[in-house]
Amino acid sequence: MPLPTIEWEGDINGRIKLIDQTLLPLELKYVYCEDIKSIWHAIKTLMIRGAPAIGIAGTMGIVLGIKNINTSDINTFLNELKRVKDYLGSSRPTAVNLFWGLARMERVASENKNKPVKEIKDILLKEAIKIQNEDKEICRKIGENGVALIKDGNGVLTHCNAGGLATADYGTALAVMFKAKEQGKRFKVFSDETRPLLQGARLTAWELIHAGIDVTLICDNMAAHVMKLGKIQCVIVGADRIAANGDTANKIGTYGVSILAKEHGIPFYVAAPVSTFDLNIKSGNEIPIEERSPEEVTSGFGKRTAPEGVKVFNPAFDVTPAKNITAIITEKGVINNPSTENIQKIIGK
Ligand code: MRU
Repeated sequence: MPLPTIEWEGDINGRIKLIDQTLLPLELKYVYCEDIKSIWHAIKTLMIRGAPAIGIAGTMGIVLGIKNINTSDINTFLNELKRVKDYLGSSRPTAVNLFWGLARMERVASENKNKPVKEIKDILLKEAIKIQNEDKEICRKIGENGVALIKDGNGVLTHCNAGGLATADYGTALAVMFKAKEQGKRFKVFSDETRPLLQGARLTAWELIHAGIDVTLICDNMAAHVMKLGKIQCVIVGADRIAANGDTANKIGTYGVSILAKEHGIPFYVAAPVSTFDLNIKSGNEIPIEERSPEEVTSGFGKRTAPEGVKVFNPAFDVTPAKNITAIITEKGVINNPSTENIQKIIGK
């Protein structure tokens, strides 16, 4: 079982404890968030990252935001909660799990609006912890549902980090690999380093090494060559938002990997919980793509790597069209040939 990436410490007056993922793999350091500004900052700067983990951080962030609201008036309380929710939602736009988690907390508050505010606060803390525990179960089910897709002797390519650090338990894409390892399958993983912030090199390689899984790190621009050499039999990645038709936003570079997989006749799998589906949007064209600071591209490996004054475009995600996706592995089952109809058959409307 991987280290918990995020935890609530204490009662309603407690705080969030999380691993600062920006320091991994060189340093395993915990940071403590006691107010909403600090958890907003932790999400924004990727101390905590990965769609399900951001969702959990948001729900615990709600608890931080409401714990000190000093009112017994329910309408004042609910208005304040909405303000906290909107503020946390402004941290990162693409992973829908954040908005899903925030909306669930708001719904629970309003379903309990006949209770005293003090009681609602405790209910919200319980809900945040419940969401975290549900995510643990979900990771395990994704692993079980996807494990048959890794065959003995396979080479598996992954991009970014969809592991324990990105969830409450052992990940989505990596859950499938952890489960395959538990079953004694022999397979090798190739991890794209994932520029600009190197989640593949820093986080995925770290997690897989700790789990005793055979992992080889490659630069992003090596994936085509490695596929051509016949070293990859399937690709498994995570997701940040999946539209109703199956178009999938994930870390920048995933779309390119899907094209390479198609060209080489390699199945391309997405592993994601139902909370990553955004059935309110018809296609990937409607997914908001986060753009991040130019410094992430003009610097790397601890130093400046580009000339001063150069223009930079730094989208953090791209959208893989459903037609490039062989199947989506969810906790409810595997959706083959993702389409609006096939998605609804497995996860409902
Ligand atoms: O910018 P990040 O590191 O939050 O991006 C993370 C990803 O793209 C992951 O693949 C995705 O969130 C799935 S995590 C289970």
